Amino acid sequence: MPLLQLVGVSKTYGEHDVHALKQVDLTVEDGQLVALMGASGCGKSTLLNVIAGLDDIQEGDIAFDGISLKGLSDEKITAVRGEKIGFIFQFFNLLSTLTVLENVTLPLELLGRQSHKQRMAAAREMLHLVGLEDRDQFFPAQLSGGQMQRVAIARALIHKPKLVIADEPTGNLDSDNGAMVLALLSKLNKELGQTLIMATHSAEAAAIADRVIQMKDGRIVT
Ligand SMILES: Nc1ncnc2c1ncn2[C@@H]1O[C@H](COP(=O)(O)OP(=O)(O)O)[C@@H](O)[C@H]1O
Ligand SMILES: [Mg+2]
Repeated sequence: MPLLQLVGVSKTYGEHDVHALKQVDLTVEDGQLVALMGASGCGKSTLLNVIAGLDDIQEGDIAFDGISLKGLSDEKITAVRGEKIGFIFQFFNLLSTLTVLENVTLPLELLGRQSHKQRMAAAREMLHLVGLEDRDQFFPAQLSGGQMQRVAIARALIHKPKLVIADEPTGNLDSDNGAMVLALLSKLNKELGQTLIMATHSAEAAAIADRVIQMKDGRIVT
């Protein structure tokens, strides 16, 4: 069974009657690194958001890890996604009043399963992985853009999600920091077997992918 399967997914933003996704079919196997490309406005972020359960769809179905979205309550969707998906945003979306350590542990706090000690140990392991163990007490404003994105990656991965979704993760970084973030994502995919779907405009990002999907005007074209 594939990790993720979309069948005939359509999404309309009602207020403005924008057909952002039109009958999208997509299958992603466990462990794949998929790059999602296409012009601005073609529907990449919308696709990632509906996969993550951050936005609803009007038609079709999305099955993730053997669970169909159809008929699930919002609450249940949030619970499934909170546990199994990690999201990396273009603008990092770190919480400015929390330290690096607190930002990274947040998903575990929300899941509320582990002890404080276990959460701290997991956070230190993640910060080590992204090379920022010496910045744990810093606030986001005290970091460079590349460091902020590495913290965001640590936060997205701390609960060991099956699927990592990244929306233009290097879109706001200079080329050196972008290259560092891509190397990290590629390493996580290879070493941890983490499935990754990444929207991107960059050829460097597409180059680390197993598979490149092109979108145009709300549809997948290749
Ligand atoms: N909240 C929204 N309300 C109305 N239209 C939206 C909203 N979000 C995105 N759109 C529209 O949906 C289309 C796809 O947008 P998006 O998924 O953000 O594209 P991309 O990420 O590829 O640049 C665009 O035409 C955009 O204007
Ligand atoms: Mg976008």
